[in-house]
Amino acid sequence: MRVGVPRESVPGERRVALVPEVVARLASGGFEVVVEREAGQAASFPDAGYEEAGASIGSDVYDADAVVKVQAPTAEEAGRLRQGQILIGFLQPLTDREGIERLAGRGVIAFAMESIPRITRAQPMDALSSQATVAGYKAALLAADRLPKFFPMLMTAAGTVAPAKALVLGAGVAGLQAIATARRLGAVVTGFDVRPVVREQIESLGANWLDLGVVGEETEGGYAQELSEDQQRQQQEELEARLPDFDVVVTTALIPGRPAPRLIPAGAVAAMRPGSVIVDLAAEAGGNCELTAPGEVVEREGVTIVGLLNLPSTMPYHASQLYARNVSALLHHLAPEGEPVLDFEDEITAGACVTRKEEVRA
Ligand code: NAI
Repeated sequence: MRVGVPRESVPGERRVALVPEVVARLASGGFEVVVEREAGQAASFPDAGYEEAGASIGSDVYDADAVVKVQAPTAEEAGRLRQGQILIGFLQPLTDREGIERLAGRGVIAFAMESIPRITRAQPMDALSSQATVAGYKAALLAADRLPKFFPMLMTAAGTVAPAKALVLGAGVAGLQAIATARRLGAVVTGFDVRPVVREQIESLGANWLDLGVVGEETEGGYAQELSEDQQRQQQEELEARLPDFDVVVTTALIPGRPAPRLIPAGAVAAMRPGSVIVDLAAEAGGNCELTAPGEVVEREGVTIVGLLNLPSTMPYHASQLYARNVSALLHHLAPEGEPVLDFEDEITAGACVTRKEEVRA
């Protein structure tokens, strides 16, 4: 089976779907890989590395049996795909209906990395987790960079400096990584999530649990369910009272396919101390903070609000390496001996497939 790796075309996207280390393993497992010129350049993987790993560099990446991408194809790229071809990428099945219908119209067998079930057997393919790990780490660093204070406690000849206090709202994969990173930098960290099972994970990282008295439900897939209007109001009011205690707030609260829950109203930002920092990882889905400007860093009420998008792309080397391992695990699942054997009775294959035979399945 021939696998094509295009250069990503979305502005600002620096990741690449396969890296040389993974190409070498695929090549020895019966796959043939063709990589578009400079596809890995922005992630610090030059063409020569791919060639050494056994790939060829070519412009016919869209002719391959399987095309592997990070971002969903643009309309122009989708136009180059054909009936029966396999496509793998972050295809946004819950939010980009038009893109999915376009792929169905081309007869592409499309697998969305977001739709891979969160089950133990599929963990090596879990790209939501691998990329959330990068985003959570980077969020803590951005907060430390923007805060006009130290994170750690320091004892100096000029006296003692108190440690920064950080709050992480939403403790899924990204939130837990932000907690761990902020702790390593020396901040005193507190975490909160509507899923009460997360409390133990927060505490095991040495952080405190913030009790807001709001408990949400979990879906069968382990995701949080949207709070009721009353619960949302209670959460906002409780947070407004607690936020002035913190120098840094990292928010990561998401509900798949829905606008991000509004945790921090404008009034709560105004109540924070000047110089405080909010890093809103949910900016892509509209933001957890009312004053977040997606794609920008703004100052509101003396508080810096970081709403930068696509943080994994700002650490493209490791983000690509982890993503490539996820993609390769899915490729091996779909083509165990290097040739596709698509079993649509299988939970992972069926779950991840979003278009097939001109049908939308998501
Ligand atoms: P996510 O990115 O969809 O959401 C981030 C976090 O926001 C979640 O922890 C969610 O509970 C929280 N949240 C939602 N609404 C909130 C609110 N109003 N206030 C505060 N927090 C709120 O979640 P992620 O990181 O993708 O993880 C989703 C689930 O998948 C988790 O249960 C996780 O444990 C599970 N998971 C399972 C894996 C496996 O077994 N293979 C691997 C990775 C994650």
